[in-house]
Amino acid sequence: MSLGTTIQMKPTTRHTDTFCRLLTTIDLARVLDIESVAYQEPWSEKKFLDSLDNKNTLASVVLVGGEVVGYLITNLCVDYADILNICIHPEHQRGGLGSLLWRHQIAKLKMHRISSVVLEVRDSNSAALSYYEKNGFKAIDRRNKYYKNGESAIIMRQFI
Ligand SMILES: CC(C)(COP(=O)(O)OP(=O)(O)OC[C@H]1O[C@@H](n2cnc3c(N)ncnc32)[C@H](O)[C@@H]1OP(=O)(O)O)[C@@H](O)C(=O)NCCC(=O)NCCS
Repeated sequence: MSLGTTIQMKPTTRHTDTFCRLLTTIDLARVLDIESVAYQEPWSEKKFLDSLDNKNTLASVVLVGGEVVGYLITNLCVDYADILNICIHPEHQRGGLGSLLWRHQIAKLKMHRISSVVLEVRDSNSAALSYYEKNGFKAIDRRNKYYKNGESAIIMRQFI
């Protein structure tokens, strides 16, 4: 059985050697690098380690030319999953890699009998909102002042 997924990229992408596989602790240093350049409030190393230690975590990475350029972390809860973190290195964004990673993750989630996925996203994060909508999520709720800085969260869901 294949452990990873190689998928044809959209014609606009520069990358041809793209691959998705499960995230392991070996990837952590690179993941922390990406996290620190992509987020204003990055996850700590401990948060990643705790997440990877959790038996309900299913996490994947996307690689270009053998280098990790993005990751997606989901938490499984019976028949649904939460997206805890998804990130593509800023230099690789808008090349279809986030969508590729999501398609890879859907296949893995279905193998765990997951039928729906939920997430929360800052209502100011227009890139992520567009990305989620383009990849089949729909807004189902809003939580006012959800984040520490008083920002609201949009709750989105997709049946897979
Ligand atoms: C959200 C994120 C994962 C998207 O990854 P990506 O690889 O850039 O996404 P894709 O190239 O697959 O984009 C798919 C679609 O999403 C939408 N989209 C993605 N980035 C966008 C942007 N900056 N502005 C507007 N729409 C955007 C577009 O509809 C795009 O399709 P198109 O390029 O054909 O127009 C990436 O922007 C990222 O890592 N952001 C920083 C971390 C983050 O905010 N994570 C989400 C936290 S909830």
